[in-house]
Amino acid sequence: MVNAFQSIRTKLLKVITESPTIKTFILDCGGEFEFKTGQFVEVGLPGVGEGPFTPSCSHYTKNPIEITIMKVGYMTSKIHEAKEGAEVILRGPYGNGYPLEDFEGKHILIVGGGVGLAPLRSLFLTLVHDLNKYNGITACFGARSPEDLIYKEQLKEWASIDGVELHLSVDRVPEGQNWSGNVGVVTTLLKPLSIDPDSTVAAVCGPPIMMKFTSLTLLEKGIKPSNLYLSMESKMYCGIGLCRHCTIEHYFVCKDGPVFTYDQFENPEAIWA
Ligand SMILES: Cc1cc2nc3c(=O)[nH]c(=O)nc-3n(C[C@H](O)[C@H](O)[C@H](O)COP(=O)(O)OP(=O)(O)OC[C@H]3O[C@@H](n4cnc5c(N)ncnc54)[C@H](O)[C@@H]3O)c2cc1C
Ligand code: FES
Repeated sequence: MVNAFQSIRTKLLKVITESPTIKTFILDCGGEFEFKTGQFVEVGLPGVGEGPFTPSCSHYTKNPIEITIMKVGYMTSKIHEAKEGAEVILRGPYGNGYPLEDFEGKHILIVGGGVGLAPLRSLFLTLVHDLNKYNGITACFGARSPEDLIYKEQLKEWASIDGVELHLSVDRVPEGQNWSGNVGVVTTLLKPLSIDPDSTVAAVCGPPIMMKFTSLTLLEKGIKPSNLYLSMESKMYCGIGLCRHCTIEHYFVCKDGPVFTYDQFENPEAIWA
């Protein structure tokens, strides 16, 4: 019988500081680590604890893998302090991931905010690997301020890929920070976009308030609820459907998600609470 709690020991190869609160951790898994973009893993430090995180690299990248983590509390502070060479425990992957076969032939609109860019970076890089299967990608990313925007150097490269359109925005520009792009919440990027709602699928990830207003804007633009993919975050513990910590409506986010379409929820208003 396969042990769903089976974990592997990985070695922290490199730490990249993305913003004052976000770092990317590059982990040597000692062999190929298979996952599907959108799935999550439980990342742990011996004697500290663990938490759910989505790999932020393409799912074609099997070793080393990258995980981007925002410092919000105890475990994430400890992992931010970890030095290269440290042992990091990984179990998973868990959850469903994005159904890429349903994206084929469609235009893909990716909308992310803050550390929500992590799963979307994985999705973007995975899609770019087979770009000919899709009818182009439009990515709209937002951050609170220019220094909070992550993957800055890579974003410039992405913008130059044929078939990719990239729009960036920050909520505000504090004194001393440079920014020549759009200023406003990420939904301000969506309003002027010209998209064919019948042949577009949208993937959204970010803080609950951003996901709410982005979803409403996309629905107003005619995106079908069944083509609106949300990466949900919920308090998790076991990651495998045993502890019931992660429920939203009748779903276990860890098993039935973390990727859901908007129409799967009976009361989408309640899921942002
Ligand atoms: C499927 C999934 C994928 C995620 N992917 C990423 C990612 O790629 N990068 C990233 O930075 N964060 C991600 N998160 C959020 C991340 O799991 C939490 O921020 C982290 O577990 C907080 O740990 P902590 O001990 O530092 O925080 P705590 O001190 O425990 O709490 C700080 C905050 O984090 C929230 N939190 C704590 N534990 C969890 C948990 N197990 N699940 C959800 N929220 C929690 C708390 O409600 C609180 O608001 C993801 C969450 C889920 C459910
Ligand atoms: S995290 Fe335990 S049931 Fe989902």
